Parts: sequence; C-alpha cells; structure tokens
Amino acid sequence: MTGPVPELDERASACAERIAASEEVLLASHIDADGLTSAGIAASALERAGIAFETTFAKQLDADELETIATHRSETVLFTDFGSGQLDLIAEHENRGDFTPVICDHHQPADADTEFHCNPLLEGLNGASELSGAGTAYLLARALEDDTDNRDLAALAVVGAVGDMQSSDGGLVGANEAIVEEGVEAGVLEANTDLALYGTQTRPLPKLLEYTSDIGIPGISGDANGTLRFLDDLDLDLREDREWRCWADLDGDERKTVVSALIRRAVASGVPAEKIDGLTGTTYTLVGEKSGTELRDASEFSTVLNATARYERADVGLAICLGDRKEALDAARTLLGSHRRNLSEGLQWVNETGVESERHLQWFDAGDRIPDTIVGIVAGMALGSDGISREKPIVAFAEKDEEHMKVSTRGTHALVRRGLDLSAVVGTAAGAVGGDGGGHDVAAGATVPKDEIEAFVAHADRLVGEQLA
Ligand code: C5P
Ligand code: C5P
Ligand code: ZN
Repeated sequence: MTGPVPELDERASACAERIAASEEVLLASHIDADGLTSAGIAASALERAGIAFETTFAKQLDADELETIATHRSETVLFTDFGSGQLDLIAEHENRGDFTPVICDHHQPADADTEFHCNPLLEGLNGASELSGAGTAYLLARALEDDTDNRDLAALAVVGAVGDMQSSDGGLVGANEAIVEEGVEAGVLEANTDLALYGTQTRPLPKLLEYTSDIGIPGISGDANGTLRFLDDLDLDLREDREWRCWADLDGDERKTVVSALIRRAVASGVPAEKIDGLTGTTYTLVGEKSGTELRDASEFSTVLNATARYERADVGLAICLGDRKEALDAARTLLGSHRRNLSEGLQWVNETGVESERHLQWFDAGDRIPDTIVGIVAGMALGSDGISREKPIVAFAEKDEEHMKVSTRGTHALVRRGLDLSAVVGTAAGAVGGDGGGHDVAAGATVPKDEIEAFVAHADRLVGEQLA
C-alpha cells in the first residue's frame, strides 16, 4: 500500500499486519489532545476492522504503568503517542512474554529495538513538527484499511498535530501536510488562510479581538471599550438580535473588511511587521462539525480535549473523538471552563512571581499552585510573556505526589536551530538525579525526586550551555 507518508509505509504496514492478526488488543495512550486523538483514530480503525479491544490512558508511561498494562494479559498492546521513549522497559516485558508491543509514536526513541514500531524519527522525519502521535496512528489506520479507507480520520490527526503545536503561521508541514491533503480529498477538512486568533468559532467578535495580547494592537488588545469603538466604526452589521456575532458567522467580504482594518490600525500604531503577519495564518476547519461549535476549528477542538483527560476525564475526550456530540460535549464544555481558569490563574501566578534566571535557562517551581498535568502548557504560554525571555528555554516544576516533582520544559524553534535538544537535556539531567524523562527537541518533560530540583537545574543549565555553545 502507498499511504500518505511513503517513508513510513513499511513500518505502518508491519504494525497493521500484527494488529490485524491479534485476537484482542489493549490500546494504551497519552492524556493530552494528541494522545486522545491518537486513541480515537486507533479505536475507530480497530472497531471498523472488527478487532476486539480495550482502552487505557496514562499521564506517563513508566515502569509502574507498564506493570499495570501487563496485568491486562492482552496478547497485543498498541501504544499510541508514547512508548518509543520507554522502549527499553517495554522490551523487558516483551522478552518476558507479557505481550507483543506495537508502537505508534513520535517521541525520541530510547536505546532498544522492537519489531512493530512506527515513528517518524526512525526515518529521518521530525517528530516535533512533521508528524504527531495522532498522525502516526492515522498511518496505522490507513494501513489497516478494511472496507472503508479510513481517510475520514485525517480530521482527528490534524487536531492532534495542532494540539501538539506542530502548526506554525504557514500551517502544517511535511508528513502532516500530506495528511491534510487526504482529509481535504475525503471531504472532512478545509485548510484556509484566515484570522489566526483563538476562538473564531465560539468567541463573540469583541472578545476575540480583545485577546490579541500576543500581537499588542493599541486600542484593541486588552481594551474592551477600544475594541467596541473599533468594531462600531467599521460600518458592518456585526450584531444579530443585539448579540455580537462570531468570526465564523461572517462572510468572506465581512472578514476581509475586519482584517484590513485591523492591519491598518496595527501598521498605523507601529506594531512590528512580523507581529502583524501573525494576525493571519493557516487554520483548519472540520467541515462535518456544526458551525459555531468548538469542534469545528482544530485548535479549539484540541483545547476541549486537553480540558478532559488532563483532569482524569479521558472517557469524555475519547467519546468526543468517537463522535458523541451530546452528553460528552456538554461535560467537556463544563471542564473547559475550569481548564481555562486554571491556565489563566497559572499564567498570572508565573508572571507575578517571575522566574529564576540561570546562565542558560530560566525556571520556576509552582509547587502545588499549578496542576502537574497543565504546568507544561502554562510554561509554554509564559515563554515570551512579560519579563520571560524567549532567548532561553524555560523549566517548570510542579508537585506530582508526596515524593516527586513533575518537570516540564519548553524552548523555541529558533533555539532548536541553534542546537537545543530538550529531550536530551531532560533525559540526562533526570537520569543524573534518579528520575526519568524524555520528549522532543522543543518540548520535554520528566519526573524527579522532590529534593533534587536544584541539582536538576544545575545539570540542565550545563547541558543547555553545551548544546548552544
Ligand atoms: O506528548 P506530546 O508529544 O503529545 O506533547 C508534545 C508537547 O510539546 C505539547 O505539550 C506541545 O504543547 C509541546 N510543544 C511546544 N512547542 C512546539 C511543539 C510542541 O510546546 N513547538
Ligand atoms: O508534560 P509536558 O507537556 O511538559 O511534556 C512535554 C513532552 O515531553 C511531551 O511530549 C511528553 O510526552 C514528554 N514527556 C516524556 N516523559 C515524561 C514527561 C513528558 O516523554 N516523563
Ligand atoms: Zn504527541
């Protein structure tokens, strides 16, 4: 078969053959948007192929989690969006005859081998920007194709990639772009150049524009009254029954008028050109979803998913991926409200408290103020906000349990181009203090003993210094 990513054809087919020959499969996946969409894709494909399976989710795959997985006594375990980084531990189970692993992942592989392993990094593709866990699961689904060809699942693969921040202003690239094309052909996706602000489906226009703080347009960003005046001056009918319309309700001409006026205002106020460029970008629309709902926009969809499994409600997120638009969506909307509050309170705390600056990195310890499952998102949002430089990677700690801290690190693509590889930094520094971790060059995480924060920072600082030298 020739799938959308020829480099991974052989690996995807080998995994698919092993899965198709299984009596029953345990599907194990990660708790973020990419992990949930990976599981949604894999579960749909297994269901369509008539293969019995159960599903389980984990914050991280570690020795304990693998022991639990082994107790399921499933013949085959399909790992999605994790597994590669724990290949050594998985191989031990395989050798003991606990289960046959099939891995669809995009994290930096540990030093060990296994037969059924689909990962872009094994074929020279970038796992942080060219293919996500969901994209890899999609390749498996395509290789498993039964009477349907599974191309409709490309929409979820795009939500996973966007959720993992693989899309930049120009949209998705590389293998991801090939998946977008399949989704467009299958009639489930649209890629457009549009206003690149968060909330085009669900935020009333004034709120949408007010939250342009990254771009900083005087009289609009963070200025509720200024935004109302700006919109009222446009000579468009932007209200319906006195309620403000959303971006998604505007037609093409109305959108052009608003975007041109925004750009004019930004230029006139001296906003730097590269920031103005960031106002528009490639956006992905799931055309099968109702307009004006979170799920119609890939970015909003991924946030909904992050609001579920990161709060121990993976069941809700998975149900949404599998098509539930009633109870699960209602439950997710409630969870989304508190997720948003947690993010904004977390970010506010970091900005008020500030970060410690070392020679090559900056860090903060949130203790129990930010849940360990979202501290990475907060760290990513903090990078580049008030007083937090984008010239150094950021390392964040949050309490995981009585004895352990969760570590989340985030860098920028510019730093990666200069040699930064956070996956290596975190793996080595965590190993040196009795913890473990991994991830991607631009974003990685670990678990370390509670009293090793300073030692971890010292190791990481030295390693980042060596990489950027
Ligand atoms: O575990 P997983 O691979 O799904 O998570 C990837 C993580 O990397 C996400 O939390 C995502 O936000 C982060 N990331 C980032 N910046 C990028 C690419 C990914 O912070 N440019
Ligand atoms: O948890 P966080 O969002 O900071 O994770 C960043 C990246 O590092 C994700 O891709 C995650 O899967 C990975 N990670 C890992 N091992 C850990 C923690 C995180 O591979 N112990
Ligand atoms: Zn992922």
